Amino acid sequence: MNFGVIGYGYWGPNVVRNLTTIEGSKVLMIADTNSSALSRAQKIYPGINVTTNPMDVILSANIDAIAVITPVWTHYELTKAALENGKHVFVEKPFTSNAEQGQELIDLALRNNLRIMVDHTFLFTGAVRKIHQLLDEGTLGKLYYYDSTRVNLGLFQHDINVVWDLAPHDLSIMDYLIKATPEAVVATGQSHLNVYEDVAFMTLYFPEKIIAHINVNWLSPVKVRTTLIGGEKKMLVWNDLEADEKLKVYDRGVNITGHEGVYKLLVNYRSGDMWAPQLEQVEALRKELSYFVDCISTGQEFINDGLAGLRVVRMLEAASESLSKRGSLVYL
Ligand SMILES: NC(=O)c1ccc[n+]([C@@H]2O[C@H](COP(=O)([O-])OP(=O)(O)OC[C@H]3O[C@@H](n4cnc5c(N)ncnc54)[C@H](O)[C@@H]3O)[C@@H](O)[C@H]2O)c1
Repeated sequence: MNFGVIGYGYWGPNVVRNLTTIEGSKVLMIADTNSSALSRAQKIYPGINVTTNPMDVILSANIDAIAVITPVWTHYELTKAALENGKHVFVEKPFTSNAEQGQELIDLALRNNLRIMVDHTFLFTGAVRKIHQLLDEGTLGKLYYYDSTRVNLGLFQHDINVVWDLAPHDLSIMDYLIKATPEAVVATGQSHLNVYEDVAFMTLYFPEKIIAHINVNWLSPVKVRTTLIGGEKKMLVWNDLEADEKLKVYDRGVNITGHEGVYKLLVNYRSGDMWAPQLEQVEALRKELSYFVDCISTGQEFINDGLAGLRVVRMLEAASESLSKRGSLVYL
């Protein structure tokens, strides 16, 4: 599969590095409106053509698929042009700036018999795959909550707030693990340095009493990537910054053993073993891009298709509405 990559800023080089080394893919051209980004690319890949005009990539007859690795406000326009010119698209998260654009692109891809994958990288990490397995096989039992802290100092984005920058990771993970759409969202936050919120807290109410909370922050003195997931049978802590033992599963919980009178529950605390399951050690983006190439050749559906991207954008839109009303409950 011949790729064209649009956007060679922070994330684009990771996409190019993987696409140039995975089986069955080749990068023919890189576009970036910033010529110094292209000079960096040319130093590493002298054999790949570069251009400051993304339409050169989109109109190239030899290119089968386009990777759109640019800021979110450009995703709609670039993806639309790629789909109109017969190219499959791998587009960064968040998929689009609003749900209307996302739906239009999904319809366009369907009409043109083309595929959209949204880069929900975390779905391809060893940790998320293991958590998915633990939920699917019933090890965790009925899910109670998902609670994530994703904070660090910067990187400040100039076009979106911290929710649109960092929360798509958790929202895509939740979409994959919980397999349900939230009923309502509450988001609070504050901007301190420009007009965009740099600190935010989001709560999502899912069906069957599942609740999720996400803390995203560009003004944290330290980087934290910790998620707690509580189930009826087991609970786990996923610390993505740990080199080994990122995931720890605890046989801990609470059993109700009976009622004493109307209000007094008889509670039995369970405090069993902890174990750290073996996780697949592979670069998630590499696995995801190989999956893109494989699924297109076999016709298999993507788990992170345009619809998955659209569900995340809908949650982000609801969060934006709630943020603007200082935390009102917004129904999806
Ligand atoms: N999946 C992940 O883990 C992950 C990580 C980082 C960033 N991202 C996503 O990747 C995208 C890019 O983020 P980044 O941090 O690399 O941003 P960036 O600003 O560092 O790089 C974007 C590049 O795109 C170029 N560009 C902008 N508009 C263009 C256009 N119309 N045509 C051609 N080039 C254009 C810019 O010159 C710049 O070099 C964002 O959507 C972001 O959310 C995803």
